[in-house]
Amino acid sequence: MTFKKQVFGFLDMLRFKKLVPNRRAALAAGSPEPLPKSYRVNEQARRLHPGVMEVELTAVRPLCPGMQEFTFRRLDADAFPFFRAGQYAALQGNAGGSLVSRPYSIVSSPRQALAGELTFGVADAGFFSGWLNREARPGDRFRMTEPSGEFHYETLRDHRQIVCIAGGAGITPFVSMARSMAEGDEPYEMLLFYGARTREQLAYREELDALREKGLRVVYVLSDEEVPGFEHGFATAKLLEKYTDIREASFFLCGPQAMYDFLDRELAPYALPRKAVRRDASCCGALPAEEPRVFRLTVHIRDRVFSADAAENETLLASMERAGIPAPSKCRAGGCGYCRSKWLGGEFRIAEGRDGRREADRKFGFVHPCVTYPLSDMEIEVPPAE
Ligand code: FES
Repeated sequence: MTFKKQVFGFLDMLRFKKLVPNRRAALAAGSPEPLPKSYRVNEQARRLHPGVMEVELTAVRPLCPGMQEFTFRRLDADAFPFFRAGQYAALQGNAGGSLVSRPYSIVSSPRQALAGELTFGVADAGFFSGWLNREARPGDRFRMTEPSGEFHYETLRDHRQIVCIAGGAGITPFVSMARSMAEGDEPYEMLLFYGARTREQLAYREELDALREKGLRVVYVLSDEEVPGFEHGFATAKLLEKYTDIREASFFLCGPQAMYDFLDRELAPYALPRKAVRRDASCCGALPAEEPRVFRLTVHIRDRVFSADAAENETLLASMERAGIPAPSKCRAGGCGYCRSKWLGGEFRIAEGRDGRREADRKFGFVHPCVTYPLSDMEIEVPPAE
């Protein structure tokens, strides 16, 4: 045993002595070509995750009263990155002197985005969406974040049968999901309940009807008119049962909060597991208030210090945008963490059910300004926007 160890030790020493000459020989035998400036794997990663893209509005078309479709292309003429049908991207623009951003569900299918075109359906409601509907013209330029979000089908989690329930402008992610299924890129069977007040207010109806041939089942539910071939009223559990087995489906809901509350009540008797019902999160907006108190918000971004008025019924993010402070945002619903900021002082409250912070962030004093409302003067440190 001792003898063997000595032999191996001797060989190791020889190898060690040859390390440098071997390395020199390998370097001398190497290609004299300079190393590439970028590698394919990095280029691929940049294509998949471009961060923020410069885009141009190429077309606007009406969908139904109070809602238009906006089509964009990238200024660098590249394709939009791949995404999962149902996800959103945030559009950033300068509306009336304020730098504002809003997330919109993508209407295009992933294939259409890869072909260089990305569309949103935008209802004429709220500050930025209203401005888009009234003021935006083809040729206008914006910035757009890469697609994000958890609102998409997941084979391991979801039933093969998915039931999508849309209220009004909430139809947009489902158009993408239906297109993607029709293009053979998703394995689910899709049953869509689309609620609106009247037939006139159904967006994308022609296209949805055409997709029936590719397997889409669509049920229109009109609350304000009775029309043969359309359901009347709301998407009650009784109506859902008429078309599907509720316990054997995964639900995707997109619409106003009142629709979510209504469906919570309708589905409660079935005691579905949490994972069976997914809601698309809406932005956290201004709260009704008669005479809201206004506080002072001090914002640090790197070595710059800004100051803004912050009303108690508006999120810190909205106050920063109003003051022209370049604060980052994506989902505006507390979930993505993109606006995560360090709390430095002051009292605040977080919108109910919107606290998407990690436990460590709660403990070490971070907030998501998109869902945080001030209760006193406040001071925060915000990451620089891209
Ligand atoms: S923008 Fe997503 S958490 Fe604030």
